[in-house]
Amino acid sequence: MARASIPPHEVADLALAPEGEARIRWADEQMPVLARIRERFAAQRPLAQLTIAACLHVTAETANLVATLRAGGATVALCSANPLSTQDDVAAALVLYQGVEVRAIRAEDLDTYARHVRSLLAGAPHVTIDDGADLLVTAHESAGAALGGLIGGLEETATGLVRLRRLEDHGTLACPVLAVNEARTERALNDRHGTGQSAIDGIVRASHVLLAGHTVVVLGYGWAGQGVAERARGAGAAVIVVEVDPLRALEARMAGYEVMPSLAAAERGDIFVTVTGSRRVLRG
Ligand SMILES: NC(=O)c1ccc[n+]([C@@H]2O[C@H](COP(=O)([O-])OP(=O)(O)OC[C@H]3O[C@@H](n4cnc5c(N)ncnc54)[C@H](O)[C@@H]3O)[C@@H](O)[C@H]2O)c1
Repeated sequence: MARASIPPHEVADLALAPEGEARIRWADEQMPVLARIRERFAAQRPLAQLTIAACLHVTAETANLVATLRAGGATVALCSANPLSTQDDVAAALVLYQGVEVRAIRAEDLDTYARHVRSLLAGAPHVTIDDGADLLVTAHESAGAALGGLIGGLEETATGLVRLRRLEDHGTLACPVLAVNEARTERALNDRHGTGQSAIDGIVRASHVLLAGHTVVVLGYGWAGQGVAERARGAGAAVIVVEVDPLRALEARMAGYEVMPSLAAAERGDIFVTVTGSRRVLRG
């Protein structure tokens, strides 16, 4: 793979780039729709002259998104929205082979993370892409300095939209925001099936528990909760749903789950997953 000219970066180790490149190619083979958009972007260059700052999971899939935006003519800088998901080899490959400014190190601390967010904003982006609204909220907090050239933002998460709607309610949201999380494909496919699989995958990897024979309590039966419940049941667990919305509680019952208040479920569950969008749903 040819080297690009190396941009400013903060990554763990550029020597990891070949492994990252292999990972990016593998992901690309699973992403045919993005590949087609990339072809069209390369021909039409709809993003020419745009600088984009992206704060996303720094993974092979995101690397292919970045390549697509660049094919459209954009200059892209990337930092990590979640230090624990950063793939250091992918970060290295983006810097070394694609010449992308990346500031992401797996398990970086909060101060480093905040510095990376500010570095990207210092590049005066025209567009932000967020997974949790940190770029856009930080831009607003920096007394408007980073807001100057901003023409819009994209937000990928339900939680990020809550933060941005708060700004909108106060009349201080400075640019239009595309609520990616409300796209039907995002809700029905990513939130339900993607999160369902990855949440169960994470629990199994971390705990090495055989789900069959255990009782999994899912608190919140929205898009993500439905996916988690379905995957847990598929792995053989008995599933209990706790849900405050009566219609969704009824949907869960109709789908064959036991539905009950959290105190009753607390006595029965072995594993608890909260997918409500709120904190402290599960307390002592
Ligand atoms: N990591 C990911 O890729 C990913 C993807 C999608 C969603 N999420 C996160 O999962 C969470 C849920 O997202 P969603 O899209 O399913 O939201 P949603 O609004 O569709 O569902 C949330 C559900 O929780 C219920 N609820 C709220 N408070 C409750 C409580 N105290 N007890 C029981 N039920 C309660 C609501 O009635 C609602 O049905 C959010 O935090 C979101 O950011 C993460």
